Amino acid sequence: MKTYLTGIQATGMPHLGNYLGAIKPAIDFSNSSEGSFFYFIADYHSLNSVKDPKLISEQTYEVAATWLACGLDTEKAVFYKQSDIPEIFELTWILNCHIPKGDLNRAHSYKAKIQTNEEAGKKDIDHGVNAGLFTYPVLMAADILLFNTNIVPVGKDQVQHVEMARSIAQRINVHYGNVLIEPQESLSDAKYIPGLDGRKMSKSYGNSIPLFCTEKKLKKLCNKITTDSSGPDDPKSTEDSLIFDLYKYFSNSSDVESFAKKFQEGISWGHAKAELFEKINSEISGYREKFDYLINNREIIDQELRNGAKKARAVAGKTIKSLRKNIMGLES
Ligand code: ADP
Ligand code: TRP
Repeated sequence: MKTYLTGIQATGMPHLGNYLGAIKPAIDFSNSSEGSFFYFIADYHSLNSVKDPKLISEQTYEVAATWLACGLDTEKAVFYKQSDIPEIFELTWILNCHIPKGDLNRAHSYKAKIQTNEEAGKKDIDHGVNAGLFTYPVLMAADILLFNTNIVPVGKDQVQHVEMARSIAQRINVHYGNVLIEPQESLSDAKYIPGLDGRKMSKSYGNSIPLFCTEKKLKKLCNKITTDSSGPDDPKSTEDSLIFDLYKYFSNSSDVESFAKKFQEGISWGHAKAELFEKINSEISGYREKFDYLINNREIIDQELRNGAKKARAVAGKTIKSLRKNIMGLES
């Protein structure tokens, strides 16, 4: 029996990339596989970029409501927020003492930041880098290793973080005997959903289609997808077409086939966008209603998260107890 775990930061309303790359595959695992499932809101991770308490709280509710609205069954999966599990932060320190600083120097997000500084000619390449950004992968490794995770469903951008968690676990296992499980990432087919401008869909690029907005806004955003200048009757390539790509993830194979045929024969971009909107909307309109209900009845979310934290802490406590004994020599 395997343990599955994934988290989403409280940095804004989840978008279609988050849904297809992480939330949907994680929920599918918990509905269709045997095992243990830990799904959470990484609210302390978001403190790195969000310094407004009201906003963190609001965004935490949005992410929580998204998981629940999309069908997470909290009888099967333990559902909690990171800040309710102090054991994560105790493990973070233990891991910090076992990871070479050089490994953190090579983390993508840190490297991207110092590259921007270099390109801008900044004297201090660490300009604007706080220690939270630098040690972000260690907190994420603690999230993962605390729950004896085997499988981490994530999008492609998070693979390096899971590799780092695995490498810290290996290092600790070599030194102390096998005390931690070495996790593996699981990538869904939707490992890299592009945004409206063709770059990776991301909250930080302002190019995303939020999972939950009004139908009107969703339609408007679908209409905003960048296309080429081919005329309505011209044949169109399905390669590198965001419209076609997104359509695929919301449709069965026969619908995909007939959509591809329309591309070949010529379909106006306007019609293609309208068909895409219909597909997305038909999958999420029920979820949207549930989301709106939960966001207006937050005590339901609070109760779910309280229950989840209790269950999560029971597991977390056991791991910490064993590590205190094996790593610190503390008998309890
Ligand atoms: P963002 O880049 O918008 O801030 P997060 O870092 O909060 O998104 O990502 C949460 C989860 O969603 C992660 O597992 C991440 O890999 C996945 N994810 C984010 N963007 C995409 C995307 N464009 N395509 C596929 N998966 C994605
Ligand atoms: N870093 C992940 C992201 O930005 C969020 C996250 C935090 C996470 N802890 C995790 C994902 C543990 C998987 C497992 O998307």
